[in-house]
Amino acid sequence: MGIVSNLRGPRTQQGLPFSDGLPSSTSTSNKKKWFNLMPLVVALVVIAEIVFLGRLDMAKNAAFLDSWPEMFYKSHSSGEVEVAGVENFGIQALGGDQNSVAESCEEWLEREDAVVYSRDFGKDPIWVSGDQQEWKTCSLSCMFGFDPSKKPDAAFGLPEKSGVASVLRSMESASYYLQNNIAMARRRGYDIVMTTSLSSDVPVGYFSWAEYDIMAPVMPKTETAIAAAFISNCGARNFRLDALVGLEKANIKIDSYGGCHRNRNERVDKVEALKRYKFSLAFENSIEEDYVTEKFFQSLVAGTVPVVVGAPNIEDFAPSPGSVLHIKELDDVQSVARRMKYLSENPDAYNQSLRWKYEGPSDSFKALVDMATVHSSCRLCIHLATVIREKEEKSSDFKKRPCKCTRGSETVYHLYVRERGRFEMDSIFLRSGNMTLEALEAAVLMKFKSLKHVPVWKLERPKSIRGGDELKICRIYPVGLTQRQALFTFKFKGDGDLRLYIENNPCAKFEVIFV
Ligand SMILES: *[C@@H]1O[C@H](CO)[C@@H](O)[C@H](O)[C@H]1NC(C)=O
Ligand SMILES: *[C@@H]1O[C@H](CO)[C@@H](O)[C@H](O)[C@H]1NC(C)=O
Repeated sequence: MGIVSNLRGPRTQQGLPFSDGLPSSTSTSNKKKWFNLMPLVVALVVIAEIVFLGRLDMAKNAAFLDSWPEMFYKSHSSGEVEVAGVENFGIQALGGDQNSVAESCEEWLEREDAVVYSRDFGKDPIWVSGDQQEWKTCSLSCMFGFDPSKKPDAAFGLPEKSGVASVLRSMESASYYLQNNIAMARRRGYDIVMTTSLSSDVPVGYFSWAEYDIMAPVMPKTETAIAAAFISNCGARNFRLDALVGLEKANIKIDSYGGCHRNRNERVDKVEALKRYKFSLAFENSIEEDYVTEKFFQSLVAGTVPVVVGAPNIEDFAPSPGSVLHIKELDDVQSVARRMKYLSENPDAYNQSLRWKYEGPSDSFKALVDMATVHSSCRLCIHLATVIREKEEKSSDFKKRPCKCTRGSETVYHLYVRERGRFEMDSIFLRSGNMTLEALEAAVLMKFKSLKHVPVWKLERPKSIRGGDELKICRIYPVGLTQRQALFTFKFKGDGDLRLYIENNPCAKFEVIFV
């Protein structure tokens, strides 16, 4: 075992798998080190050869040759696999097939890059000071509650203690509650913002499969009026009242059940009532990106076409293109009124607007709503733990990770990937000769298929749109992007962009959204 201890020094300095054999590395200083080591290496090769030949003598049959790597691994503790490198030299010198014995770049990287994080969340869960939350499962140990004797990882409310992340959580629109504006919240010192904005750290939307039976069947449109409105407050700070008046003036017959322009007095179940109308006036009280409330999602459940005054990006929330009418500004009222008339008089065209009810919503809609299958409190814990790990990855131990492995002209890059909504990462590898978006997707699919991975939304989605067992990738993006970026704005600009990203981010971490 003397060989082992002699070798360990140079090998760790080198930071390359010993079975590389030859100084194929790029830097000249590395070459120099190797050159200085050459006499030692030659001596070792000779020793190894002698050891190996000795073993050969002992072998009674050729089968020994096939099984010796296993025997080798069995007879050594896992911490001493380095010796394999020495014996590979022996094999090489004998003209044996190096590949059948050499540890692959992938195996080597898995081992060398596997630096242990100091905090084991299994034993020391993420602790958030706040009211107990109800969630079914979380891929990370995560606790909410109050315990004065313990310093939490995070607490709701304004920043108080250092080292405790302060969290702002609200589903109110920032137009009414200025403090919910992300930039404002940051200025006030909040570390983590949880609002309806998909640009917030941990978005908390109104949408979820659990709350809205979005695939409920379409019912016959039996009312004389073509549209229904449930608007309680006529005094919102936007043009929604003017839009309502404008539609009425354009001879759109509207049944209004709310306090605003009320003309139907019975008390009704909102969603049941909406089912009987072709259109629903989903007029929000705020016009704000991503601020999309139950008014919109109830319309979808009811199988009525939403006519929206609200989020400028409401198309991002549409179950399919052309399924929503949008009054962006008062000037749109006339054209939207014309469209409503046309659709109400042309059953086939109207039915097209609801096609998603029969064929299922678009992938982008599914990807958006699937986010909420993981409870926002669990997503908060995942966010916190991810930040804690990222901090630690800046330490010297982690900086030492090789993250790539070069043999001859090829470099293998070590990447990590997890599904959105889960915490732990799995390894994938890309080769320098094939650093393409296509290869990245293929590697991700292969990994998750081999793990028999079940998407996090599988049991949450309505049965009719759960799909089969195959995995389909919707998005792959670097960990740390907001959901707005991940779902709508981020894209690697081709293979070169991906390559650059991977080269600049050793052990790059990605998140994948399956649909
Ligand atoms: C609407 O279209 C679906 C198929 O997309 C069809 O099954 C349904 O019968 C149609 N409904 C009407 C009222 O035409
Ligand atoms: C690169 O990866 C893609 C996707 O896995 C694969 O189809 C292709 O054959 C690979 N090309 C090379 C040169 O390895």
